Amino acid sequence: MTAPVDPTATKAWSRLTELAAGFEPDLRGWFAADPDRVSRLSFGAADLHVDLSKGLVDDAVLSTLLGLAEEVGVAERRDAMFRGDHINVTEDRAVLHTALRLPPDATLDVDGQDAVADVHDVLRRVYDFAERVRSGTWTGVTGERISTVVNIGIGGSDLGPVMAYEALAPYRHPEIECRFISNIDPTDAATKLAGLDPATTLFIVSSKTFGTLETLTNARLCKAWLLDGLGQEVGHSDVDQKAAIEKHFVAVSTALDKVAAFGIDPANAFGFWDWVGGRYSVDSAIGTSLVVAIGPERFADFLAGMHAMDEHFRTTELAANVPVLMGLLNVWYADFLGAETHAVLPYSQLLHRFPAYLQQLTMESNGKGVRWDGSPVTTKTGEVFWGEPGTNGQHAFYQLIHQGTRLIPADFIAFANPAYPLKDAHDGQSIDVHELFLANFFAQTRALAFGKTADEVRAEGTPEAIVPARVFTGNRPTASIMAPALTPSVLGQLIALYEHITFTQGVVWGIDSFDQWGVELGKQLALQVTPAISGDEEALGAQDASTQALIDYYRQHRT
Ligand code: F6P
Repeated sequence: MTAPVDPTATKAWSRLTELAAGFEPDLRGWFAADPDRVSRLSFGAADLHVDLSKGLVDDAVLSTLLGLAEEVGVAERRDAMFRGDHINVTEDRAVLHTALRLPPDATLDVDGQDAVADVHDVLRRVYDFAERVRSGTWTGVTGERISTVVNIGIGGSDLGPVMAYEALAPYRHPEIECRFISNIDPTDAATKLAGLDPATTLFIVSSKTFGTLETLTNARLCKAWLLDGLGQEVGHSDVDQKAAIEKHFVAVSTALDKVAAFGIDPANAFGFWDWVGGRYSVDSAIGTSLVVAIGPERFADFLAGMHAMDEHFRTTELAANVPVLMGLLNVWYADFLGAETHAVLPYSQLLHRFPAYLQQLTMESNGKGVRWDGSPVTTKTGEVFWGEPGTNGQHAFYQLIHQGTRLIPADFIAFANPAYPLKDAHDGQSIDVHELFLANFFAQTRALAFGKTADEVRAEGTPEAIVPARVFTGNRPTASIMAPALTPSVLGQLIALYEHITFTQGVVWGIDSFDQWGVELGKQLALQVTPAISGDEEALGAQDASTQALIDYYRQHRT
């Protein structure tokens, strides 16, 4: 594996440092001076239209960022990823989520095995299962149709499916509801199981490793709930229980031996591979709940959308390559202009879980302090990603984005067509509510970019004393992403866009964006703390003073 190039040792980095030192962003001036700015900085990628013209970037910065991409070898590493090289070095694995969406006639040799053939074998089995549930030919043990599918999983085995289930709500099967249990807080299982009929409930235990404490605990809780609930009808013998589990539990995992040990019939298990990272797995069998909800045909559209974005990323020159450009701009904002966070603001209520999904994708991938050769990073890495749908966010945190002291680059996402075209009959007029909604999308990026000067505020007759409070500095960077409608394909494109933005940033920083060692220590310590909470004095004594005091508090107050 080639050593990472230290980005700070490149010519481009030195030049960017100089450019940043004298940087005076002036979006008003830039727009006035350059009538082509919008067309030069607007790009197409599959069905997405991406306008970067309201970004804090001029020609010198942009060309130097592209030079940086050349010097650190973004294209070479991208090609290595698509080829199946083991670019996840700390786990010695290929990184091939892109193979999950290759068409069936493609081939890709991964360590001597055709990954595409394997992918489509599993997809066929998932599609067949989903069709049976959707059509009612797969029934529960009492012969009733399945009306609720409960996905049990956490992290990448939850966030992708739940986000896509919400985003594609208009495409759902009308008689099957999906619920998602993720948290080990018993509230989650208790509230999600409430009101369900075990006879019509099917569980999908989704876990790449099948060793995650939360998921296995929740799976056992659900198994007990099911057997308890069905006991009267199907009996309590081992044979009865096995039959019930066969009809009400399926699993998705790379560890099919552990699935069998849990008591789930391997015939009801769907596999995937170690070259699919958890946070990159919504398009693997981890998306089974989604396939049940929207059907195989639409899931295939979702995969095709991802593939279209993969092809854009793989084949488009860097200067017009949207994920590369957006990733480079993020590096510029984070490493040169001091941005600590990045907002993602979908103008689509259907995308209300998209920022949460992106938090795992971006922060578990790029929240690293060492590079892929083990040496310390030489730059800041991994911004904090966050967001909420507009317009709700406007009435909550936009104040800080508009007038606060921090630079917060923001991606605005909107669709030309609404999922629900409602009209508001008001004052004798019929108003298209989607247009009211999108007016906010357009207005916000405009206000952020161009602001409002003191003279403009005064011209409105504002008393002098409050003029400063009403000034908007502008020059707050945004990217606008639009598409015709939020279809399964477009959702796939958006996900793949952010996967490749994350990848691009990771390459610049020289980090392995595909491991996640940072989540391990807390998991280990939780296992050590558990006996201390339950009364093991020796285990309690092994804790630090603060943790001991907190456990004491817990013990005193637990009724
Ligand atoms: O703890 C982090 C993590 O490993 C994520 O990367 C992963 O998506 C999640 O846990 C769930 O893991 P699994 O699918 O193996 O249960």
